[in-house]
Amino acid sequence: MGKINIAIDGVSSSGKSTMAKDLAKIIGYIYIDSGAMYRAVTLYCLRNGIVKDDKTIDEEKLKAQLSNIDIIFKLNVETGRPDTYLNRQNVEGEIRGMEVSALVSPVSAIGFLRKEMVKQQQAMSLNKGVVMDGRDIGTVVFPDAELKIFVTASPEIRAKRRVDELRMRGNKETTYEEVLENIKYRDHHDQNRKESPLRKAEDAIVLDNSTINIEQQLQWAVDMYHKTIEKNNGKNRDR
Ligand code: DC
Repeated sequence: MGKINIAIDGVSSSGKSTMAKDLAKIIGYIYIDSGAMYRAVTLYCLRNGIVKDDKTIDEEKLKAQLSNIDIIFKLNVETGRPDTYLNRQNVEGEIRGMEVSALVSPVSAIGFLRKEMVKQQQAMSLNKGVVMDGRDIGTVVFPDAELKIFVTASPEIRAKRRVDELRMRGNKETTYEEVLENIKYRDHHDQNRKESPLRKAEDAIVLDNSTINIEQQLQWAVDMYHKTIEKNNGKNRDR
């Protein structure tokens, strides 16, 4: 059975990464978190004096050092999920922290960096059998992906889920209103930036997961995968 590439895009905090990771595990595909690559570059910038005092990025410096940045993924046998490595160091924890999160948006908006990341993402997926999630996967990275999914949910639902998650991790301070405002800000930023703004690919299937749970959304994705494989096999038979 021929393998395909699966592109999963969508708004932030929509649960697309959870779906992408679990789908990849079930169908035996490689999962690539493209956001982690932008996060790893952001960490590199913080560690190497590429962030200016006013919190903007020194693009010239970054350009000059781009070839020194090596990002790879390695399977973590304990979690069963890939960890992100920056220049051979496991940075999976650090790239999820607040310092990186606060700066990753402007870093991911830099045109020459996106070009390089897209090149690397495409090179990782040449043999197919990849589930990749992000913002521009169906539109730029895999314009020919056999299955494209665009995940969305209302800002209020996403904010509620995020607050529940924060409370579970012991955070009692951050309010629902703060989280909602941040989600709306990020939606606006992602959709209106000049470089590869977030938009649905024309041939992507929309999944609004506002009223379904994680298990239901995973089952939906697995069904979509099987349907796509069947369709593909049919096409190949007819040739
Ligand atoms: O999915 P995430 O929150 O880990 O993504 C981190 C940042 O990178 C976020 O600001 C969106 C951006 N991003 C992007 O511009 N293109 C991608 N393919 C993936 C993420």
